[in-house]
Amino acid sequence: MDRPDWAPKDVDIEKASAARLYDFFLGGSYNFEVDRELGRKVAAVAPGVYDFTRLNRAFLRRAVAYLCDQGVDQFLDIGSGIPTAGNVHEIAQKANPDARVVYVDNEPVAVAHSDLLLEGNPNAVAIEADLRDPDSILGHEKTRQMLDFGRPIALLTVAVYHFIPDSDEPLALAARYRSALPSGSYLALSHVTMDAMGEQVRQLIDLYRDSQNPVTARSKAEFTAMFDGFDLVEPGVVFTPQWRPESPEDVGPHPEESAVYAAVGRKP
Ligand SMILES: C[S@@+](CC[C@H](N)C(=O)[O-])C[C@H]1O[C@@H](n2cnc3c(N)ncnc32)[C@H](O)[C@@H]1O
Repeated sequence: MDRPDWAPKDVDIEKASAARLYDFFLGGSYNFEVDRELGRKVAAVAPGVYDFTRLNRAFLRRAVAYLCDQGVDQFLDIGSGIPTAGNVHEIAQKANPDARVVYVDNEPVAVAHSDLLLEGNPNAVAIEADLRDPDSILGHEKTRQMLDFGRPIALLTVAVYHFIPDSDEPLALAARYRSALPSGSYLALSHVTMDAMGEQVRQLIDLYRDSQNPVTARSKAEFTAMFDGFDLVEPGVVFTPQWRPESPEDVGPHPEESAVYAAVGRKP
């Protein structure tokens, strides 16, 4: 397969990636034929995937706006993805021009495009690192320069833990990140479930096995356990459109069709 000019040299263009599939479902153009091919197969058996991604992205935007309202001005966004409409630094720096953001992703296309977008922005950086290696993120020179771990930080792990299999111990990882955050910090999380839309999500999981990022769906109880050590803010654990919607119409009659749980917690 031909490598487009904009593709970083170290990117795997033979196998679809979660970052580029997500970009494809959101209507972006930073994806390869291999991603589009798998994306079309997923959409054929799980047409809800367009809503899963769009509603997840809308949750992220509302969560960041909420966190800004709480006075948070530091964000660590792990599994940040390829920049698209409503990026975290855009929302946060609109609310507070001094807000600081560290984006982290292990997908080279995501990091390269974040770097491009952030050129000339002194308060936001992107690093290529893996959620499963907390020390490489928490101890990264750029993280330490950008974020003050003596003041509240919002950790965003939105739509990323479902790419972490049980064998990589997601709860232990969540605990490690929690321990690094000072009191008053927040955690925003969303995660695919099979509690609703079970058949479509099952088919999606089957197809994502052919990508670089196999998916593990988790139940409401498993999702809630990731907030151990945090106090959930209202409305608690809900489907993405139900989390502080801007209007009742945004929730619609079947919020469970988003297939993604969402919540925000505060570390006491
Ligand atoms: C579905 S996208 C979500 C993007 C963004 N957080 C959002 O919710 O709009 C998931 C992102 O997580 C990244 N990702 C998956 N596994 C990761 C890991 N182990 N470490 C860092 N990033 C990871 C993928 O590359 C992808 O960009």
